[in-house]
Amino acid sequence: MLKNEDKKMEEIISFCKEKGFVYRSSEIYDGISGCYDYGPNGVELLKNIKDFWWRENVYKKNNFYGIDSAIFKNPKVWEASGHTEGFSDPMAECKNCNTRIRVDKELEKIGEEADEKMPESEINSLFEKNKEKIKCPKCGEKNFSKAKAFNLLVKSNLGDFTEKSSSPVYLPGEASQGIYLNYKNIVQSFSPKIPFGISQIGKAFRNEISPRNFLFRTREFEQADTQFFIAPNENVENFKKTKEERFSWYKKLGLSEKNLKFKDHQNLVFYAAEATDIEYNFPDFGFEEIEGIHDRTDYDLSVHQKNSGKDLNYNNDGEKFLPWIIETSMGLGRVFLAVICEFYREEILEDGEKRRVLSLPVFLAPTKIAVLPLMKKDGLKEEAFKIFQKLSENFVCSFDETGSIGKRYRRADEVGTPYCLTYDYDSKENQDVTVRDRDSMKQERIKISELENYLTEKLK
Ligand code: GAP
Repeated sequence: MLKNEDKKMEEIISFCKEKGFVYRSSEIYDGISGCYDYGPNGVELLKNIKDFWWRENVYKKNNFYGIDSAIFKNPKVWEASGHTEGFSDPMAECKNCNTRIRVDKELEKIGEEADEKMPESEINSLFEKNKEKIKCPKCGEKNFSKAKAFNLLVKSNLGDFTEKSSSPVYLPGEASQGIYLNYKNIVQSFSPKIPFGISQIGKAFRNEISPRNFLFRTREFEQADTQFFIAPNENVENFKKTKEERFSWYKKLGLSEKNLKFKDHQNLVFYAAEATDIEYNFPDFGFEEIEGIHDRTDYDLSVHQKNSGKDLNYNNDGEKFLPWIIETSMGLGRVFLAVICEFYREEILEDGEKRRVLSLPVFLAPTKIAVLPLMKKDGLKEEAFKIFQKLSENFVCSFDETGSIGKRYRRADEVGTPYCLTYDYDSKENQDVTVRDRDSMKQERIKISELENYLTEKLK
């Protein structure tokens, strides 16, 4: 089995495009930096990851509530949350060719403890100390401006924005604000007993100056967030428990433990009691963050209470307080990429032929069953198509009639389809089909009348 260290990101990117997982956004116009589209296989895989997350973070917890909040929010939200002022990356410009760099990332590369949340003066003194070690990626010079905070919020307009008085609206810099804003609604509608959770999958937009590494750092992406509302000072135990739960979710998703690790934050923002990232070991770029877990105390609700003037206290049998929050925020694009990296492999078969396989667990596979008529003629295609229609009522199936049967098996293997059914000449006679397993490539004959039960069992 290929280790991630032996896989090449470039190959994975071209595989994603070739097999309809991910395309560059607006490609016929040469694309737009940091934006991607999911193709027919990608959209199914992404949906399966989301469904699995939703099942574990909403359905399987009796006190967790799912929401879907609007992209546009009152601009005061982003002022209260601090995003209009403080949501920024430290950028510096090469004085020779004007290329911009992320100073925190460049410092990290040379082994310094730096991150985007460091105060400007602190990051600048570290930058100054290391100025001989950091080169412009374009021209190679070592002559930069000072690091300046570059705000990441994307501004837009609603209504008649030609009028001078119209104020901008912001695209969400993080999906989680929609949860804080609905906390009071959930309490009023459902009277949840504390501790309880609110979960959401939502889009986020960031004006990343140097989007890079394919789906890893994009300007538009999705986050799957849970805010766990707890009683004050019950954070330490809950933070620990949340970390364990989230780590084991990734293992259940199928990512191997050796490719996962925690990275606890050293530089905490002033309101955070604790913070950690879950990192995945990507080919070529190594361990990088896929999820952030933050112990945020009562910071978020207290700023929204102060700025909105609304009482956001929770009434716990007469005792009133602002709940504290443990937040988990997973980047779906990054987890999608981690899944492809984990399960993509190339094998040399006994006959010397190479096959590419996406050995996804069945619940993640975009298509569960490929139905293949051995030949287009002699009524085989029509009979196979009937099976495809019948099975499509309960399973995501594909129908493939072009090329040799061997080529069709390969095509199904590449996109991770666990089972191929072949309708051949014996099928007419015996009312059965061949079922081929993607991983073992073994085949067995199953009666058409038993297919539904057989596949339900296999695809559980
Ligand atoms: N509400 C908390 C929050 O947004 P974050 O650490 O900035 O925290 C959470 O983001 C997750 O969102 C990250 O762990 C990452 O997986 C994903 N993410 C952040 N910026 C991203 C980007 N530019 N492109 C793709 N995913 C991103």
